[in-house]
Amino acid sequence: MDIAWGNDSELSESEFYNRVEDINIITSLITANPNSTPTLLLTGIRGVGKTALMKNIKNKLMKEYLVIYMDISKSDAYQEKRLDRISFMQVLYDSIIDSCKEKGLKTIDKTLKKMIKTNDIHIADIANYEYISLPIITTEKNYSKFANFVMKLPQNIYRQHAKEIKGIIIFIDEFQILRNLENIDSFLWFLRSNIQENKNVTYILSGSMSLKDEFIEKIAGNEGAFGGRMLTLEIRTFSYETTKKYMQEKAPELKFTENGLKQFYKCTRGIPAYINIFANILPQNERLDENNIKYEFKRKVSLLATHNINLWSRLTLQEQKIITSLLEKPLIRKEIAEKLKVTTGSISKPLVKLKNMMMIEQNGKEYNIYDEIFKLWLKKYKEENKVYPYREI
Ligand SMILES: Nc1ncnc2c1ncn2[C@@H]1O[C@H](COP(=O)(O)OP(=O)(O)O)[C@@H](O)[C@H]1O
Ligand SMILES: [Mg+2]
Repeated sequence: MDIAWGNDSELSESEFYNRVEDINIITSLITANPNSTPTLLLTGIRGVGKTALMKNIKNKLMKEYLVIYMDISKSDAYQEKRLDRISFMQVLYDSIIDSCKEKGLKTIDKTLKKMIKTNDIHIADIANYEYISLPIITTEKNYSKFANFVMKLPQNIYRQHAKEIKGIIIFIDEFQILRNLENIDSFLWFLRSNIQENKNVTYILSGSMSLKDEFIEKIAGNEGAFGGRMLTLEIRTFSYETTKKYMQEKAPELKFTENGLKQFYKCTRGIPAYINIFANILPQNERLDENNIKYEFKRKVSLLATHNINLWSRLTLQEQKIITSLLEKPLIRKEIAEKLKVTTGSISKPLVKLKNMMMIEQNGKEYNIYDEIFKLWLKKYKEENKVYPYREI
């Protein structure tokens, strides 16, 4: 079997399947006009393969380009719940320097020192990139100097190394996290104006966002910070045909009957993360018909729902109750409030939070549980234990 684990985003060339068209579109956009680079937004649900795709493109282009990959969720600041504009800039700075080192852009040290001098930034150790210690930003004035410096850094690096590299590509993953920043609107405008000036730098933003997410509008909509200038590309789930070929090629040990495979697709909904987790735990060299798949799915659904179960365990009781109120059918806010016997006002904040976490989705006025597999897991738990897992799992 040649199938990656469901949480691995560093896929080998033989594990990485499909996406030929997405790769072609993105690379041709990057390479089309070296002096006028596009800004892209990759959207798509969690587990569809955005990160894997970006890393694949990174590997393909890193010979000719300086490719910087930054994951906001991996920053200490985010993990410690204090992500702000400063820590965003620090993570970006860090990622830029890391990639330069990886690429062996030798003169970067001198260049940096010079840039810091001319920008009048007095921050201890910033120039010593062999032992990067992040600058300590204390004042607003200091921040804005640093932010401007970091945002201009890629274009300056390009200028210094135009002979060695064709351009610079910056991936910013888990971008949706920024929606919780204070003054996000002005921050997006600040990013936009700087990104525009970076003529040889392609920015590719990505994050798990439901297509109905208002944040997408805020970034790439006509009235959004990037206006019509940002190209949005949705990364889609695998089709049935793709999934079929994928299994035939990469998992010949799984002996699906035709209906078995159809059921497999129904359970995983074409989401590569789910396809891979499920394929990795199915019995090999045994007949897998519709009933076998249903049986295995029911037994192992908690493995597929791991990510959402983790999120669930961190919710408040009220947030959990909002979710269980939606198990039977989508409801509008008033109906949820009635079910919980609280006022509609008291659930507005939790609703926004759950939406941002992609636990629920809003469709017009109605709210719905986002992930079908998580929904199944909750139902099954209730069936077996007579209660919902509000406390412990
Ligand atoms: N092109 C692909 N071919 C095979 N498996 C993939 C592919 N893309 C994603 N996967 C599987 O899906 C999982 C989730 O992918 P990931 O890139 O982390 O999703 P996202 O970033 O959209 O949440 C990966 O760990 C991998 O197992
Ligand atoms: Mg990802």
